[in-house]
This record gives sequence, structure tokens and C-alpha cells, in this order.
Amino acid sequence: MEIIGIIGAGAMGSGIAQIAAANGHRVLLYDAKPSALTNAEKKLEQTLEKLVAKDKLTESGALALAGRIQYTEQLSDFRECTAVIEAIVEAVEPKRQVFNDMEAIVGPDTLLATNTSSLSVTLISAGVQDPERVLGIHFFNPAPLMRLVEIIPALQTAPATVARARKLIDSWGKTTVLAKDTPGFIVNRVARPFYGEALRIFEEGIADAATIDWAMRALGGFRMGPFELMDFIGNDVNYAVTESVFQAFYYDPRYKPAFTQKRLVDARFLGRKTGRGHYDYREGAVPPEPVKDEKQGREILDRILAMLINEAADALYLNIASRDDLELAMTQGVNYPKGLLAWADEIGLQNVVDQLDRLYAEYHEDRYRCSRLLRVMARERKVFY
Ligand code: NAI
Repeated sequence: MEIIGIIGAGAMGSGIAQIAAANGHRVLLYDAKPSALTNAEKKLEQTLEKLVAKDKLTESGALALAGRIQYTEQLSDFRECTAVIEAIVEAVEPKRQVFNDMEAIVGPDTLLATNTSSLSVTLISAGVQDPERVLGIHFFNPAPLMRLVEIIPALQTAPATVARARKLIDSWGKTTVLAKDTPGFIVNRVARPFYGEALRIFEEGIADAATIDWAMRALGGFRMGPFELMDFIGNDVNYAVTESVFQAFYYDPRYKPAFTQKRLVDARFLGRKTGRGHYDYREGAVPPEPVKDEKQGREILDRILAMLINEAADALYLNIASRDDLELAMTQGVNYPKGLLAWADEIGLQNVVDQLDRLYAEYHEDRYRCSRLLRVMARERKVFY
């Protein structure tokens, strides 16, 4: 059984520690800030109490789980670890430093993983002596609840490292998908139009946030509309991902951030956590009523959906992930009601192409260019499934 070392005891690191311990591993958790360790320990205690109260865990099970986690301020304690997952601040240099430190401490067979959500795994690995054992293991927040984990080999990663990481994470009951080391990997790339196109429709005054959210929920079957989801995630977090993906794609207009969201961030209208975002969550605030016009709602849904399908088709075309992994990522990572490629089949590929071509003809913006794969498949009357 692997001994798991986790560096960074924040939201992600402490969640990953909980999963590893729940699956019987001995876990070492380290943070540069001792207070982060105490917080993580307290938080886990509360989580376990809740799980026991809900009968999801026995009291002795909770005790055993907690007992498997060792909180340490000494990196040298990691010498026995067979796999180390890094979940520290999102910056290349500190992450490289962590792996350099690890190489001096752990054995040569220890797997080294980064939980980065936006940095190049290849770039992080390039600072390491033996990059063949380094890869990206990208959990979603909150890690104990979200089923999906993206596995991202760097250019230098050995195939055996990938196989070992997948086996380990699969054994934790997670669904792993394999993603190429490109900006946003799968989910954070393919999901961009869900926010971006909704913001565009809003900015053009075609519909307000409540109406767009209603259309996506009631007519599209999404659990949350784009605006309520941005407020839930935090506009700061969501905007930062959009901006980093936009930059990493050399400013491809398809991923362009929206001023509307930037201004919310400027004003610290970050969403639920600050009481205001696209919506007002303060006491006494009256939620705006959507305009429940089905015809207009369908136009909104069709437009956002076509952009999402285009993104998924392009990711397939560019070998970012397999067809099945793309579908799994979007249904399990962000709870989409259907896989986007299966959804495209249902709508009819030619209809999706026509929708995109209409947008392109209307706006003459590169943002609306149709993926070549989608166009060719539609022409040849092929389907994804
Ligand atoms: P966080 O800010 O909650 O926790 C980071 C922890 O790392 C802090 O406790 C900090 O004291 C510690 N730390 C910083 N530099 C350190 C160093 N050099 N050595 C040791 N500890 C250090 O951050 P969070 O949200 O847990 O994110 C961690 C990583 O996971 C980032 O790379 C982030 O991009 C990624 N990620 C975050 C997700 C999220 O939704 N929060 C989702 C998926 C990945």
C-alpha cells in the first residue's frame, strides 16, 4: 500500500489527505504555515463528526481515518512516502522547489504529482532531475466529493508513471480521465463558453442573468445557470481561470474574459462568499424574475450549447482527450446533464454547424469559428456515437 505525502494543507491538500486516509493509506500532510496544519486538522475533525452523525462512517472508522494522517512541519518525514501530491500555491517556481526538495528526501521510485489547475505540468517537471516520475493529478473542489480526476502526463512523464497514478486514483473510487498538457486540461477548457458566451449574451442586452440562468436550467437541464454558478465558484476564481486560459492560448478570442466579470472582481462582488455578485445575496434582497419566454430561452440555450459542443469537438480534434474521457469529464467534473458530443449527435451535427456559421456570419469574429472536425463530420453525415 502506497504511503501518501501531501504538500500544502489548504482546501485541496486537506481534501486529498482525507480521501487517501479514507482509502486506508498512511498519509503525511505538510504545510509551510503551521497554522494551515492546525486548521486542516480541525476541519477534518468537523467533517468526520458530520459523517458519523449522518451514519456514513462509524465512530471507530472516523478515529482510524484520522489516526492515519500525520501532520508534520518536517519535510524530512516524507522519506518513506511512495507517492507525493503537491497542492501548494499556484506558481511554477515554488512547485519546482517542492519537487527538488522531495528528490533529495524520497526514494527513486516515489511518484511525484502536482495538483495544478492551470500551469504547464511539462514546465513544472522541467525543473526536476527525474521528470519521468512527475505528472499532473488534478482533483476538483471539494476533492472528497467530486468524482472526476484529470491525469495529465507531462511531455517527459514515463508511461509507467501514468499507469501507476491512474491505478492509485481509480482505487480511491474516482473516475480518472487522461488529458493532454494543454491550458485548462479538459474541464477548464471545454467549460469556458458556459460562462463566456452567457456573459456575451448578457453584455449585448439580449437577456438578463436570471433569464439566461433559467434557460440553461429549465430548458437545458443544467443544475445551475452560468451566473449563479459563477457566483457560487467565486467571480475572482472563475475570472482568474478564464484569464489564465486566455493568456495560455496566446489570446485566442474564443477564451476572451468579459469586462462584466472583471468589474465584479474589481468591486469585490465575488458572489455568495461576499454577499454580492451577479446577484444580490444580502438579507432582504429580492431575486430578479426571469423572463420565461421559451422561444427566446431556446435561442440562448442553443447558442451557448453550440459553443460548448464546438469546444468539445475541437478538443477531440486536437487530441486533448478521447471521446469517452471528454464526455466523462463534463458529466462528472461539472455535472453537465449529458456529454457534449452525445448531445451534438442528438441535435444533429449539421444543426450545430449551422448555428455556429450563423453566429460567425453575424459577428465576423474568430470566436465563432466552427471546429473543422464538426464541419467534416457533419458533411460526411457521421456521428460521435
Ligand atoms: P490554498 O491556498 O487553500 O492552500 C495552499 C496551501 O499551500 C496553503 O496552506 C499554503 O500555506 C501552502 N503553501 C504555499 N506555499 C507553500 C510551499 N512553498 N510549501 C508548502 N506549503 C505551501 O490553495 P488550494 O485551493 O488548496 O490550491 C492548491 C493547489 O491546487 C493550487 O495549485 C491550485 O491551483 C490547485 N487547485 C485548486 C482548486 C480549487 O478549486 N481551489 C481546484 C483544483 C486544483
